[in-house]
Amino acid sequence: MTTPHALPQIAPAVANPHFGRIGGEEAVARLVEAFYRWMDTLPEAAGIRAMHEPDLSQTKAVLKLYLNEWLGGPKRYTAERGRPALRRKHLPFAIGQAEVDAWLLCMSRALDEVVSDAALRAELMAAFSRTAQAVRNDTPHHHGGTPHGGPPSTLVL
Ligand code: HEM
Repeated sequence: MTTPHALPQIAPAVANPHFGRIGGEEAVARLVEAFYRWMDTLPEAAGIRAMHEPDLSQTKAVLKLYLNEWLGGPKRYTAERGRPALRRKHLPFAIGQAEVDAWLLCMSRALDEVVSDAALRAELMAAFSRTAQAVRNDTPHHHGGTPHGGPPSTLVL
């Protein structure tokens, strides 16, 4: 007979599937490092690289916090930087389809390096694509609901 103390623990990965599946903070850190390495090297990304400071250390730290939370991990981004409001935070930069494509190219290369699970890579690319379209600012913004389909976790843009 099963006694209560023999019940299995519910792992955090069950509550936060994407964060657990990717491999937690350590994998997110590697993903962000790879992402900016590709942004630094791919000719297609030169335009979006030029929007960033020469020193990427602060930007990397913030994207790590954000992605940890976006994937369902610790909510330190919101604690430190408030509501993401990504569309508003990207308004100082001119983002059209070319910039979206360049960003997604870097992220796709980074995912190829860091995530071995092809299904997870595809899910994350789909979610990144929706978010990238949502920060595009050469088209009118459609208000209401979650027009971009939302990230894998419940973090709202
Ligand atoms: C679509 C093309 C995109 C371009 C060209 C772009 C560019 C930028 C730039 C130039 C910054 C400022 C960096 C800094 O000052 O340190 C920034 C900040 C940021 N971006 Fe993007 N981005 C894009 C898409 C995305 C996407 C898809 C996400 C999320 C999945 C994202 C997440 C962030 C975050 C979290 C910040 C920091 C916001 C803050 O200040 O708290 N970006 N982005």
